[in-house]
Amino acid sequence: MAYLIQLNSFFLFISLFILLIHLPVHQAVNGGLSVKLIRKNSTNAPLQRLTDVAQTNSYAYLGEYLLELSIGTPPVNIYGILDTGSDLIWTQCIPCKNCYKQNDPMFDPRKSSTYTNIPCPSDKCSLIDTGVCLAKNRCSYTYAYADSSITQGALASETITFKSSTGEPIQVNDIIFGCGHNNTGVFNDHEMGIIGLGRGPTSLISQISSTFGGNKFSQCLVPFHTDISISSKMSFGQGSEVLGDGVVSTPLVNKDGGPLYFVTLLGVSVEDTRFEISNNSETAPKGNMFIDSGTPPTLLPQQLYDQVFDEVRKQVPMSPITDDPDLGPQLCYRTSTNLEGPIITMHFEGADVQLTPIQTFIPPGAKDGVFCLAFTNTSNENAGIYGNFAQSNFLIGYDLENEVVSFKPTDCTK
Ligand SMILES: *[C@@H]1O[C@H](CO)[C@@H](O)[C@H](O)[C@H]1NC(C)=O
Ligand SMILES: *[C@@H]1O[C@H](CO)[C@@H](O)[C@H](O)[C@H]1NC(C)=O
Ligand SMILES: *[C@@H]1O[C@H](CO)[C@@H](O)[C@H](O)[C@H]1NC(C)=O
Ligand SMILES: *[C@@H]1O[C@H](CO)[C@@H](O)[C@H](O)[C@H]1NC(C)=O
Repeated sequence: MAYLIQLNSFFLFISLFILLIHLPVHQAVNGGLSVKLIRKNSTNAPLQRLTDVAQTNSYAYLGEYLLELSIGTPPVNIYGILDTGSDLIWTQCIPCKNCYKQNDPMFDPRKSSTYTNIPCPSDKCSLIDTGVCLAKNRCSYTYAYADSSITQGALASETITFKSSTGEPIQVNDIIFGCGHNNTGVFNDHEMGIIGLGRGPTSLISQISSTFGGNKFSQCLVPFHTDISISSKMSFGQGSEVLGDGVVSTPLVNKDGGPLYFVTLLGVSVEDTRFEISNNSETAPKGNMFIDSGTPPTLLPQQLYDQVFDEVRKQVPMSPITDDPDLGPQLCYRTSTNLEGPIITMHFEGADVQLTPIQTFIPPGAKDGVFCLAFTNTSNENAGIYGNFAQSNFLIGYDLENEVVSFKPTDCTK
């Protein structure tokens, strides 16, 4: 998900198929916090379709990673999409004027003794651009995403509880969140909202960084194909540094003070064949791509996408599927064994990140034995997206104190 920055250049991701599990184990490390992420299994997964709102149809598959939080007193579990592409933390709330179906009970603020509406006007209400005053001087918010999902409701504060490795609960009070009473979009019934991890003041990391000893976090997402009993991991604060052999780092680019983690992509190689956006890091367009854990595929600017697509097709020693209308213009192959595809290297400023087929070829929903290149195109030259398929099997550290993102190839299933 990306917070709405330029409506006409983004895609609608329809989540018909969400993966997997439920592993609510948390552990505190060195004053920091480590948690395991959740993926939910969804049976009868239909083929995924990714529709560009403004333009044409294209196709992809969806895989979001869910973060478990306990909210309120007594605490109620919520599972929200982990989203580095937005700021707000929100969940569906009772009473629901207009909510999508969710499996678990919705949060009911009347049953929590620590729920507090944010007053309006107030500095806290102004943290959300769209914060407006409602009757009884309450702050109401509207938050829209690039895929046209919208949540509306009351901006509130609550106690959030994390479980430490010893099972000790760790409480953080007065976390600002959206109690969503009117939520639309294409959500899976396991998804109870979105946990924004962007750079802005209302994101989870901004609100808990002082509790956990530093404005930094890291994530290690398991690949799409991974058995659902194996969870991804996240750490917040102290102890989340990404260190050691094989670490590469690229500077974050702060564009317009927005919530997104922009980095600079200079080019992409398919094995040894390199395609440039710019061959000169001095003149490269700074911050032309953002890293988004809430968007599954990687979106490249049109020309680069076409070059990569053609080169991958040239290098994969198989014929692509051309007779399946469901697959649309994607580059897909049918194979009973692991796909042998080229290494694709993302050349970020100062950091070459090598992707293997497990990160670049993903099965589209229920199609057995079919793998498709998990890249797609965007007409926006200045806002490519580095999606979550490509982020898997890397320990990725966001160090917001030093303004760098680091990548370390890691088997996240271990
Ligand atoms: C997940 O779904 C698949 C079918 O799509 C099923 O075979 C498997 O047992 C499920 N796993 C769990 C843990 O529910
Ligand atoms: C819910 O939100 C939508 C879009 O923001 C708006 O058009 C609609 O009027 C709202 N519905 C209610 C019941 O508030
Ligand atoms: C850099 O790119 C320009 C055109 O974009 C090309 O003319 C030039 O030869 C390239 N330089 C190198 C060193 O590849
Ligand atoms: C993506 O590329 C296809 C052709 O491969 C084109 O029809 C479509 O308009 C492009 N979409 C965007 C958003 O540029």
